[in-house]
Amino acid sequence: MKMERPFHTFLMFIAVLMMLLTGYLVNKIAIENNVSSEVTADLNLYGAKLSDILYASVTKKSETKTTSGYDTEYEFLITNIGDNTISNWKATLSVPNGTIVKSSWDAALNQHLDRNELVFTPEYYSIDIHSYEATAFRLLLNTIEPFDPHSIKFVGYEVVKGQKNIIGPIIQIAIAIWAISFIGYWVTRFNIRNYKERQQNDVKIILQSMNTFISFIDAKDPYTRGHSKRVAMYGAEIAKRMGLSEDEVQNIYYAGLLHDSGKISIPDAVLNKPGKLTDEERKLIQNHTIAGGKMLKQLSSIRGIRETALYHHERYDGTGYPEGLRGESIPLYARIVGVADAYDAMSSNRVYRRHLNKDEIIEEIQKGGGKQFDPDIVKYMVDMINDGYVNVVKMETADSEEGANNFHLTESDIPGVYMGY
Ligand SMILES: [Fe+2]
Repeated sequence: MKMERPFHTFLMFIAVLMMLLTGYLVNKIAIENNVSSEVTADLNLYGAKLSDILYASVTKKSETKTTSGYDTEYEFLITNIGDNTISNWKATLSVPNGTIVKSSWDAALNQHLDRNELVFTPEYYSIDIHSYEATAFRLLLNTIEPFDPHSIKFVGYEVVKGQKNIIGPIIQIAIAIWAISFIGYWVTRFNIRNYKERQQNDVKIILQSMNTFISFIDAKDPYTRGHSKRVAMYGAEIAKRMGLSEDEVQNIYYAGLLHDSGKISIPDAVLNKPGKLTDEERKLIQNHTIAGGKMLKQLSSIRGIRETALYHHERYDGTGYPEGLRGESIPLYARIVGVADAYDAMSSNRVYRRHLNKDEIIEEIQKGGGKQFDPDIVKYMVDMINDGYVNVVKMETADSEEGANNFHLTESDIPGVYMGY
């Protein structure tokens, strides 16, 4: 199963956190267990100090004679007089044969009688005896004779302080860095996504505005409906194949969309005239380049739009209009759109003729290299026809009756076209 990249990153973050936490816990357990030393002492219960670390005492609270011997209540007190905490401890009291434990008052302390030995252990390991603190426990014993305990055996572990552990703080810093990276990554991702969404939205608005505008041109000249969009797509694909940057490809797409904007200034009667044009009418039509250039002057924020409208009918050999520019003095966008424009004209039906077939188009375009067109750009356009990027086959099926209605190519017919979003 293919994983989404953000999900993958999230899993990696969790894995790193798990490793850090495991390291932290292992280190903590290691510290608590490894830097301890065993403490053993026989503690005299009547005040004599036999250990540097511990002191113990017992008090008889009551003693009652019964039919089965003596019921005696004792209170034991074990005090830690050392500097370190004592944990994991156990205390053992030797008792006479036949002793019975009648009750105990300390729920947190387990005691069990093993022959002559009464063993006390804390129920949880967490019951530590801290430095200069004491633990006390009471119990009621039944003995045959009065019993005065003299000593208690003590075994425990002393947690030695002051041992420097640098792994713990390093792991804590690593966890803090992890937290900052985790938050930073997701915040940045969120911001980038928002930024991309805004950018895509801006592109959409630009394209929608342009498409609205070219629908006016299409309305004037229905026979070439879709022409501007196709020229934009072909132009963008040529630019992509020429290795231009993404921004330039996008700009050429816009320039292609608006290249014929000036057509709006041509009277309908001239634009759609089926017969031969008079010189004056031809001039009016040619004037769409200058009119377009003037109209698009305001759109200076998108590079090359005005120049493309103004110069897309210039010819490489200098015989075009409106200025007769030659070769590379014709702006690149206008040279690209010029080839795309000619291809679309040849592959579309016109008032006065049907479209050309694939071989005728290739021949015409190649013939125009160095004359009408920039020969470098011609190569890309011919490749696009040959490798099926522009669907001449579909175009040819338009010759049949059912294909005729569906003739013009749409954006979805063109694979991989750069649509700006
Ligand atoms: Fe034009």
